[in-house]
Amino acid sequence: MLLACKDQGEFIYIIPYLMKKLVLILPLFFISITGDAQGLKSFLPSGKYIGTAINDTYFDNPSANGADYENIVKADFNVVVAENAFKMSTILATKPSDPLNLKLSDLNLSKVDKLITFTQNNNIRLRGHNFVWYSYPPYWLNSEAAKWSEVQLYSFTKQYITLLAGYCKGKVKEWDVVNEAIDDDATTPAYRSITWYSKASSAQTFIDSCFYYAHAADPDAELFYNDYSIEISYFKKQDFMLAMVQDMVNRGVPINGVGLQCHFESGANTNDWVYNELRILMDKLAVMGLKCNITELDLRICGSGSSSVEQADEYKKITKIFLDKSNCTSMLLWGFTDKSSWIPSFFSNCDDGLIYDDAYQPKPAYTAIKDELESSNAVELPDNAAEANAGVYPNPSSQSFFLRSSADVKQITIFNLQGKEISVVENVKEGFGENLAEGFYMVKIQYFNGDISFQKIEKM
Ligand code: XIL
Repeated sequence: MLLACKDQGEFIYIIPYLMKKLVLILPLFFISITGDAQGLKSFLPSGKYIGTAINDTYFDNPSANGADYENIVKADFNVVVAENAFKMSTILATKPSDPLNLKLSDLNLSKVDKLITFTQNNNIRLRGHNFVWYSYPPYWLNSEAAKWSEVQLYSFTKQYITLLAGYCKGKVKEWDVVNEAIDDDATTPAYRSITWYSKASSAQTFIDSCFYYAHAADPDAELFYNDYSIEISYFKKQDFMLAMVQDMVNRGVPINGVGLQCHFESGANTNDWVYNELRILMDKLAVMGLKCNITELDLRICGSGSSSVEQADEYKKITKIFLDKSNCTSMLLWGFTDKSSWIPSFFSNCDDGLIYDDAYQPKPAYTAIKDELESSNAVELPDNAAEANAGVYPNPSSQSFFLRSSADVKQITIFNLQGKEISVVENVKEGFGENLAEGFYMVKIQYFNGDISFQKIEKM
């Protein structure tokens, strides 16, 4: 449909206010609003990141719909993390000839390189996961580490972190330095012991050291401790984690935050008290000066235990927490499409935990997140803005609103009538606002002299 014309005329002006001040000029040209204006990330307030884990079965793989996969990533997300490509199991998949004298050439960095290029080309933040994890070690590591002294264990770990963090310096903005170091005992948790790094006589000293090594290699990277079952206080693991990171902060260990994995079961773990608990936990970490990010969110549906509608509501509530809490700057999903999720292989009778279906179609959960992000951007709009002329010129098929002035205005922002921002253009002189759906909009015009005016316009 074409733009509405409240006052039809040969030239139809959107902004009579401007006409008082400014001289008409030609030629007119269009400033189109293109790209991924409608993806999830376009609704984020500044300073917030929404993201996904990237699975390299699909990413950069033309035979597996790689282009569709990447287009969704580019449209919706402004932070990504590799699901497996940055893990030691990938980076040191091949046994180094001398593991205690690691060289950069021992590291398998081809997938790391691809993600660095992809994120740099698309202005996406890159998160690193992880340096140290007890699970999925390279096939050779457990037996090799069993032969090492404690000093050798530290030496290997230092070399590994220093090489990888150094290689990614400035490109990977944040790291899970240590993943899942606390065991699963719900009542008396402790550091995990059955692992390649159990030679460390003090697990805490080992954990601290990993943070120091990472910080020395890239002082600007944000460093996280990441775990599951720390999201709610029902698991005593949370108390253990809080005491651990408080102690690290007190001693000046360079830790910037805690990652909550948030692998939840839809309909089971996500009733209201869980959301309250998440808020309380984020506040406790904020008092310590720490971030608390959501790093691996998914909401699996097990049997008939939930529905996509219930799941959508849960995603919406978690999104609200992410938006409300200033120390929660990122919310990453553990993948975005059910076609590529760890859930069916790791949780029997469970599936469908993500926001796009197998055919890359958005699910109710997608819309729920989007709605929540949109409403967070709501701006207070004046009730009494004059209705302005909106028009089409010179070609009815161009579908643009017009501003006519002899000089640029600083910024034009289009809102819907709920105050949600639709688009912004800066230093604009002529046409703007292509590709808008039918309906009424509020346009805010900011002039270089500081004046602001609002006009209500309609596209029909
Ligand atoms: C999982 C991946 O999704 C799987 O593909 C892989 O086989 C095993 O690891 N917590 C974490 C993630 O920190 O690294 C795990 O990822 C999921 C649980």
